[in-house]
Amino acid sequence: SGYNVAVVGATGAVGTRMIQMLEQSILPIASIKLLASKRSAGKVLHFKGQEKVVEELVPDSFRGIDLALFSAGGGVSKKFAPEAIKRGAVVVDNTSAFRMDPDVPLVVPEVNEAALSRHHGLIANPNCSTIQMVVALEPLRKVYGLKKVIVTTMQAVSGAGNRAIKELHDETQAVLEGKDYEPQILPVSGDKKHYQIAFNPLAQIDVFEEDGYTHEEWKMIHETKKIMEDEDIQVTATCVRVPVAIAHSESVWFELDQKGATVSKLQELLKKAPGVVVQDDPDNQIYPQAVNAAGKKDTFVGRIRPDQEQADAFHLYCVSDNLLKGAAWNSVQIAERLDALNLLRVPK
Ligand code: A2P
Repeated sequence: SGYNVAVVGATGAVGTRMIQMLEQSILPIASIKLLASKRSAGKVLHFKGQEKVVEELVPDSFRGIDLALFSAGGGVSKKFAPEAIKRGAVVVDNTSAFRMDPDVPLVVPEVNEAALSRHHGLIANPNCSTIQMVVALEPLRKVYGLKKVIVTTMQAVSGAGNRAIKELHDETQAVLEGKDYEPQILPVSGDKKHYQIAFNPLAQIDVFEEDGYTHEEWKMIHETKKIMEDEDIQVTATCVRVPVAIAHSESVWFELDQKGATVSKLQELLKKAPGVVVQDDPDNQIYPQAVNAAGKKDTFVGRIRPDQEQADAFHLYCVSDNLLKGAAWNSVQIAERLDALNLLRVPK
């Protein structure tokens, strides 16, 4: 007994972590099917020590599947998620394809698990930077309310996939050796120009949209309001790609609705919060770091301090593994919660 699970994009940066998270999961798993493009068909991966051959994704891949985790790009999700649902699979989609659809719950279990009960066969996994920010802010919002957020992200290249990780490595080596290197992926593989990421932060993640904001920045704005179910929270973001392989770091300024918060009260709330580890001890130089967060499921929070000019406003600094809590772990956690709530089936 257990679920028949499919991973779509199984060979990718997120897909390989989805397999790891499923291996560690409490979810009862009867079988696993690894799907990718034709390019990877026949490649051998492992699940719980057993060899699994990657198959080419086709509509009938989902026959007999109960749960499908998608992370192969928005186009693949748009085309194949309906095929999966039609064949009875519940889809947890890590792409941005359906996140803002009013019929699709956008879920971070620590924040809005109740939204799961409204699913029609598909649950969207939010943007990686949004997830860790709402995990850090929700425990404070619950007690003090949240008026405004200004966030600057420092995002790892793995958010742009395995080819971007390789570009960071190869390009860094080329720069160190004084050799030429032609960037081909970053900042955005599909955009017209490509720039050096080695030793060079890039203030562009995803394509530019209206008002000079990038699509990534709009995702943080819209998704935060949807997950917190409050259109009145003022959110603005600047998203920056930095020469880091894994784990996003964020500088978050926030204004609370109510008076009375202090740094120690906020620290106490975060120490009790699910999915949060407080690392905040300036006297001992303790604060979150990407190298320590990589490979972990938690969101690490530190540098909590008051704004020096504005009442009821604070800063914090948070770091989390963008491939785990930002993607694969949050998706598997959604599946675990669906199972626990008896919601892991496509409603009639
Ligand atoms: P493949 O290895 O066959 O290219 P990343 O985010 O690291 O770039 O990974 C993207 C994932 O999405 C990979 O597993 C990739 O498979 C998969 N993928 C990309 N395009 C398609 C497609 N058209 N059909 C199925 N899987 C795809």
